[in-house]
Amino acid sequence: MLTAAHCCTLLCRLVHGAVPAGKYGEDLSGGYYESGGSSLKMGAVSAYVPLFLATTAFCFPEGYNNTGLLDELKFKVKWGADFLLNSHVDDYVYMGSMGNDTEAFDNYAPLELFEKYSPDRIVGYCTKDDPCSEITADAAAALAAASLLLKADNPQWAANALAHAVQLYKFATEHQRSYMDTSDPAVQVFAYLYESTGFKDELGFAAAMLYKATGEEQYKQDAEQFFDESPDTQTQELGELKPLTAVLMSQLDPSNSKYGDYLQSFFEQYLSLKGEIKHTKCGLAIPYHWGALTHGPNVAMLGMCYGKGANVDPDYRARLFNYGQHQVDYVLGDCGRSWLVGFGKDYPQYLHQIPSYNSILVWKDETDPLGDRIAGTNYPGPITTEKTDRPQMWQKGMVDFYGNYFPQRHIAYGTLFGAPLMDDGMVTSRRDYTYTEPTVIYNTAIVGALAGLAEYYGAGPWSGELQEVNQVDYSAYLKQ
Ligand SMILES: *[C@@H]1O[C@H](CO)[C@@H](O)[C@H](O)[C@H]1NC(C)=O
Ligand SMILES: *[C@@H]1O[C@H](CO)[C@@H](O)[C@H](O)[C@H]1NC(C)=O
Repeated sequence: MLTAAHCCTLLCRLVHGAVPAGKYGEDLSGGYYESGGSSLKMGAVSAYVPLFLATTAFCFPEGYNNTGLLDELKFKVKWGADFLLNSHVDDYVYMGSMGNDTEAFDNYAPLELFEKYSPDRIVGYCTKDDPCSEITADAAAALAAASLLLKADNPQWAANALAHAVQLYKFATEHQRSYMDTSDPAVQVFAYLYESTGFKDELGFAAAMLYKATGEEQYKQDAEQFFDESPDTQTQELGELKPLTAVLMSQLDPSNSKYGDYLQSFFEQYLSLKGEIKHTKCGLAIPYHWGALTHGPNVAMLGMCYGKGANVDPDYRARLFNYGQHQVDYVLGDCGRSWLVGFGKDYPQYLHQIPSYNSILVWKDETDPLGDRIAGTNYPGPITTEKTDRPQMWQKGMVDFYGNYFPQRHIAYGTLFGAPLMDDGMVTSRRDYTYTEPTVIYNTAIVGALAGLAEYYGAGPWSGELQEVNQVDYSAYLKQ
């Protein structure tokens, strides 16, 4: 469906120039970039952020409200959801992936300059011929969740988001196929970077969230069927939504014991001394090393949310809360250093995160990227476009960024680092992105876990530095 918003967008584009747009003229500004080192916007990543954050708000409404962060959380969810709405250009056409990985990963110049120095980004679609059930189901779930979260603030927006969610779910279930089989070159970029283990878990979560948002019985039955058809998993993350589905369904369908039974065996992998998940010396869960800091907080959030259920045995609930708090305490500094940027002791200074690095700040002149050698570095310049076939800005940015000559120039408050070593040591080379690269999806876990603990301890508004986080007025945007 082409809406008035799209037409307005097209007009804005004509007036302002470089607003990224898709094949149908849809506005593809906004939303979330995939990760610290990437300007890609990928359908499932873009959906996971609002999907997970909104779910945490249903788990811990008082945690957010008491800390004064509920409106900010709604803002983050709506920001992500508005991008998904723009991406849904027609009933069976959804923008599934934007950007070329080779080109995006080569650009280490500040993202503010990306539009200027990068070629037009490729854009790919999920269609009837090339469906991507994981991506469209995630988008359906995110929009259903956002609709519910924003309903009181903005009923009109919420109704529209829910209508899109219902249609996207229809698309995902009527044309069931994984994005791994797509023939669209831009969606293949996403398939190359994020291998899917199947789409039934995404369909199950979307059905569960639509059941929560609409109360329609059919969604409940679908959720159970897709849940049964999803393989078990060791982790909750993008592409693995079975644990989150179980938490949601354990509350929506409490008399059905299968969700609690599944969760107990899921949690046991972490909680049991004989469990399958390895832990660092200090006790952070490491299912596998890449981006491992997200998993402890994810299990913390799931355990605390599930543990609030009336059916859960109090001793077991205490065990879940203890484990969750231990994981969060690790992140905040209990093992000698904080892993959350801007908070606590010795937090990470070398991140594979381009926006907070902002390489251009020490350059002589933005228009003269081959200016003087960067003081104190081995910058080899001059590098010419002829030699590398890449804009000079990109080349200089890469040397600067990968050289690890300077710590991050801005403090990206609240950014969760990638992963510690098994002995709890920290990697400080940006080249080792499996340890040092934060992503929006990793970060959702710690946000949810902190909301859970804030609710449990009844903490009030943040009272340290950064008071202004409680004082931003988001209401105009929420009502838009
Ligand atoms: C949030 O807290 C305020 C009091 O601080 C209360 O009036 C309001 O009802 C709460 N809202 C929600 C959604 O819990
Ligand atoms: C991505 O960019 C590289 C380098 O410019 C090019 O070789 C490749 O064909 C592009 N891939 C797609 C899917 O457009």
